[in-house]
Amino acid sequence: MIVLNYNNTINEDVKYICNDLKDLLKKAEGSVWLVSGGGGFIGGYFLDILDYCNRELFKKPCRVICLENFISGIPDRISHLSNNKNFKIMKKDVTKTVSIRGKIDYIVHAASIASPTFYRKYPIETIESNVMGLKNLLDLGVKKNIKSFLFFSTSEIYGNPAPEWIPTPETYNGNVSCTGPRACYDESKRLGETLCVNYYNQYGLPVKAVRPFNVFGPGLRIDDKRVIPDFFNNALNGKKIQLLSNGSPTRSFCYISDAMSGFMRAILSDCNGEAFNIGNDQLEVSMLDLAKTIAKTVGEVEVEYKLSEDENYLVDNPQRRCPDLSKTKKLLGYYPRIGLEEGMARMMEWYKSAYEFGEGN
Ligand SMILES: NC(=O)c1ccc[n+]([C@@H]2O[C@H](COP(=O)([O-])OP(=O)(O)OC[C@H]3O[C@@H](n4cnc5c(N)ncnc54)[C@H](O)[C@@H]3O)[C@@H](O)[C@H]2O)c1
Repeated sequence: MIVLNYNNTINEDVKYICNDLKDLLKKAEGSVWLVSGGGGFIGGYFLDILDYCNRELFKKPCRVICLENFISGIPDRISHLSNNKNFKIMKKDVTKTVSIRGKIDYIVHAASIASPTFYRKYPIETIESNVMGLKNLLDLGVKKNIKSFLFFSTSEIYGNPAPEWIPTPETYNGNVSCTGPRACYDESKRLGETLCVNYYNQYGLPVKAVRPFNVFGPGLRIDDKRVIPDFFNNALNGKKIQLLSNGSPTRSFCYISDAMSGFMRAILSDCNGEAFNIGNDQLEVSMLDLAKTIAKTVGEVEVEYKLSEDENYLVDNPQRRCPDLSKTKKLLGYYPRIGLEEGMARMMEWYKSAYEFGEGN
């Protein structure tokens, strides 16, 4: 079903991000990066941004090592970098011993199983990647005396916040089940953050954690089973959009170019030992409104209510999700800008160029 993964839509995003962050990105000139999960949605953008910097911004290129086991990522997403001398793409499971020769300046741990459908299917692998994989890379970071480490945590660490904690600041401790069907993801990300803060306290490792709130954009596989790809998958294949809840739960969606700006600002900052919400505080929408927006973007699509075949689909499902971005704005100068409709239009443009649609898909 996939015919192409890297294309002009991603290229435009990358150019926009790099021009916006030009001065900050100069800090990374000539450095060595290790990115885990570089074949995934967010990791792929890290690779493309660093490649763009090498081509357009840096006199001395940076070098990039990507560790990826392709459990959910697609080799095609980054195959355009496979013969690039500044990139080394290694098929490697980060939960196994990681040894790399030579210096490393920056480590990004984006490897995880991020889609609820898939982390419920692979709960142990999810925990291993968020804890053991993370610990392997933190140890490597200490050994290599790196400049900065970025851990991908999640807004899911807040669980289902009480109404008075919406919008949710980083200081909220969370309302999370430790045994429910989402716990493999939520609790291992929580332990991941605990590891990070203690590597900072005990070893002085310059680590930061980001807590993304529902990032979307080109590169997010249409069969990923997260809500936006799912709705597009229905709509672009000429089917009704299927709402698997009563439509009332909300999420705050953040377009990838805004989110990448936040992630880059975090890893290139001096805010060691800190965690940051990264999302869009203006884009909280209900699932019903999201379905209507995607129906309008694609055109002439109906929305229907359906029960999920997965009996755990709605168990511990947060009712509202909206970030308080005060800390991120103040310390990182992060301000999201892309609206929902513009983001959806870009997403559709990418889906249409990356996949073939029609009956039977
Ligand atoms: N996209 C979002 O909205 C969002 C929200 C919150 C948190 N996050 C976090 O951000 C990170 C990136 O998410 P994404 O949306 O790009 O997910 P993704 O599934 O597209 O990418 C993750 C990548 O990690 C790889 N991977 C998984 N386990 C691995 C292992 N053991 N060794 C090597 N590679 C492995 C997968 O093959 C995949 O390519 C994840 O840690 C995720 O939990 C994402």
